[in-house]
Amino acid sequence: MIRQAVLLVGGRGTRMWPLTVTMPKGLLPVAGVPFIELQFRLLAEVGVEEVILAVGTDHEAEWRAYADSVTQPSLIVSVEPTRLDTAGPVAALQEQLDDRFLVLNGDVVLEGELTEFVARAPDLPATLALVRVEDPSAYGVVVTSPNGVVERFVEKPPVGTAPVDTVNAGLYLMHREVLERYPPGRLSFEQVVFPDLVEAGELGAVAIDGVWLDIGTSELYLAAHDAIAAGRSRLVQFESGSDPWVWIDPSATVADDAEISEAIIFPGAAVQPGATVHRAVVGPGAVIETGAIVTGESLVGEGAVVSAGCELANSVRVAPGVTLPPGSITFSPPK
Ligand code: GDD
Ligand code: MG
Repeated sequence: MIRQAVLLVGGRGTRMWPLTVTMPKGLLPVAGVPFIELQFRLLAEVGVEEVILAVGTDHEAEWRAYADSVTQPSLIVSVEPTRLDTAGPVAALQEQLDDRFLVLNGDVVLEGELTEFVARAPDLPATLALVRVEDPSAYGVVVTSPNGVVERFVEKPPVGTAPVDTVNAGLYLMHREVLERYPPGRLSFEQVVFPDLVEAGELGAVAIDGVWLDIGTSELYLAAHDAIAAGRSRLVQFESGSDPWVWIDPSATVADDAEISEAIIFPGAAVQPGATVHRAVVGPGAVIETGAIVTGESLVGEGAVVSAGCELANSVRVAPGVTLPPGSITFSPPK
């Protein structure tokens, strides 16, 4: 059993802007559940009781308020004075850490058997969980020998150059001793610690089967809902009540004749009669007016208004609070 885990939740969430203006990425709702609660559910399976949230320089107040609202697991909020990258925040916690603990990226969850991962981890200073993906170029690519020792770790290789399709799933079993080797300050697992461990033959890896949910981009955030709506998640379920799925917060207002499919509608948002929302996210309190079309993995920021005749596609992001005048953004030529 493992008692402790560190969740890295301090990234800037740039690729999920503008939803991350008011809410840290790790608290974005997935089928209505704050994302990191999926990680808590997984961690409970191996006995984790204490979770340290490594919070960056943003969203400290939101994380503290959230931590106050959670009773299980026990949450400790650790705030960085300056951004310390991925390994720096964990190294800074040395005095609070057990000899062996888990580290998780805060924007992904691997729904595999965590007990199996821990049981199969080789007796090495650190072990990564691996998953297979179609396009490894957005991830840390990991080449492993047949005995489970990592031979190469390449962070985000150019498209088409990755040697294998197994990637770092953002879940590590780690001994504290690894982090004692570095001076305090900024430190990257991907650029420094893992390559150093590979060099020394000290990095293990275990491939894990299971759905991998990622909320790092709007495309992945919607894809996570595709998987959940299809009943493929064991950590979270939802009955959409419609096919294709929609996730509508109970406090949002959606007109009966609005056309909504594969869409996430945040609390307090409004989708007016005759509006269309397909493969897109409508942020808190945003308004999609009659005749507006929001599609193409677009994100509409908090309180923004998309007026009639607007047609959003191609991952457009609408800044919080702005009003797009009627017809101001469209891909259709005037009739
Ligand atoms: N506390 C803190 N401070 N957390 C940080 C910081 C920081 O300065 N920078 C990033 N993080 C957190 C992010 O919030 C995220 O949860 C995690 O560290 C990884 O950062 P991302 O920015 O999401 O990295 P990525 O998605 O490009 O790549 C990472 O994740 C992939 C799996 O999703 C790498 O670990 C890849 O190797 C991996 O395949
Ligand atoms: Mg990420």
